[in-house]
Amino acid sequence: MSSARVLAYCRPGYENDTANELTTRYGEASIFGYPVSKKNSGFVSYHLYSDNELEKAISTFDVHDSIFPRQLVAVFTSINDVEKEDRVGQVLNALNEVEKPFAHFGAVDVEYPDTEEGKTLAKFCRKFTVPLRQALRKAGWLTAKENSGKPKLHIFFESFEICHIGYTLPGFASRDHLGICRLKFPSDAPSRSTLKLEDALVNMLSEKQQAKVLRSGGRAVDLGACPGGWTYQLVKRGMYVEAIDNGLVADSLMQTGLVEHHAADGFTYRPQFGRVDLLVCDMIEQPDRVAKLMGDWLVKHWATHAIFNLKLPMKQRYETVVEAMTLLRSRLNALEDAFAVKVRHLYHDRDEVTVTIVRTSKDEV
Ligand SMILES: C[S@@+](CC[C@H](N)C(=O)[O-])C[C@H]1O[C@@H](n2cnc3c(N)ncnc32)[C@H](O)[C@@H]1O
Repeated sequence: MSSARVLAYCRPGYENDTANELTTRYGEASIFGYPVSKKNSGFVSYHLYSDNELEKAISTFDVHDSIFPRQLVAVFTSINDVEKEDRVGQVLNALNEVEKPFAHFGAVDVEYPDTEEGKTLAKFCRKFTVPLRQALRKAGWLTAKENSGKPKLHIFFESFEICHIGYTLPGFASRDHLGICRLKFPSDAPSRSTLKLEDALVNMLSEKQQAKVLRSGGRAVDLGACPGGWTYQLVKRGMYVEAIDNGLVADSLMQTGLVEHHAADGFTYRPQFGRVDLLVCDMIEQPDRVAKLMGDWLVKHWATHAIFNLKLPMKQRYETVVEAMTLLRSRLNALEDAFAVKVRHLYHDRDEVTVTIVRTSKDEV
């Protein structure tokens, strides 16, 4: 019986969606196993039928190219009866009992689920990291200096008694602790929603894509803009924004001279000058309606690039996203241009996912 498994961290409540996604993705890659999860635990264990498939599983796709997992860790051993007395010694023993997957790891992270119960583990995990790191270095498991080019060791405490030991590979994993990128709320932004767009801009677009999509002096349309958290992010980067919503846009944004407010329906609004560089949309509407609207703007060249949220229903969330995105992708695939499409359930998203679509015209390729 194989003990290898992939541990996927996710937002509590999204275990089923994460499990469905992993089953589909690993099935497509002919990596066989089954998911085990507990509701609201904040993680899913995907058990592999073969130990030999672990490295393949962890490197079959980058976590940033998945939707619901925040991090994917290749677990090669677990401790089910951690005792208070000598936790460092127990981790070292567990490591010594398995075949070393790599000569050295470049770093170690001690983690816990993003749940209320997990919060009670956070302080302990932080304190535990320092003596553990020292002991791992002494025992030859860790490089003398932190090295982000090497695999990273993860010690995941499910509870005070159970911990899983695994690794991530650079280029396939999140560099953030718990797979979470925390952002500071800008005190002059009109709404907390601003963090959703900032998260998407910094975590879903490469630096090159950011420079292309967020040109200072460029034009954007924000559908469902009020009170203006997303518009704020665009204005901050020097873009002119047509903000569409029947509500009110924050005065601070109107005073910048970069924002034009139109009290109009986002489904029938068209750009003032025929086209814009970027379309963003945070309207609370059915995902298939929003995906169709985004497709119309991209196909008709009213917008070059698009960033939007798909609000998720309570059930079948993974299936709903896949359905909406399959239709949209097939419309984009029929065009001459190429599109880089990403869909992520970001830390700052709630019951929604964020989609980024960056266009590359044929001339650029
Ligand atoms: C989640 S809020 C947007 C928050 C905004 N992104 C921010 O950062 O401040 C959704 C907004 O969409 C607007 N909305 C919903 N349906 C709309 C439609 N058909 N046309 C225009 N706006 C719409 C609502 O009035 C609401 O202000």
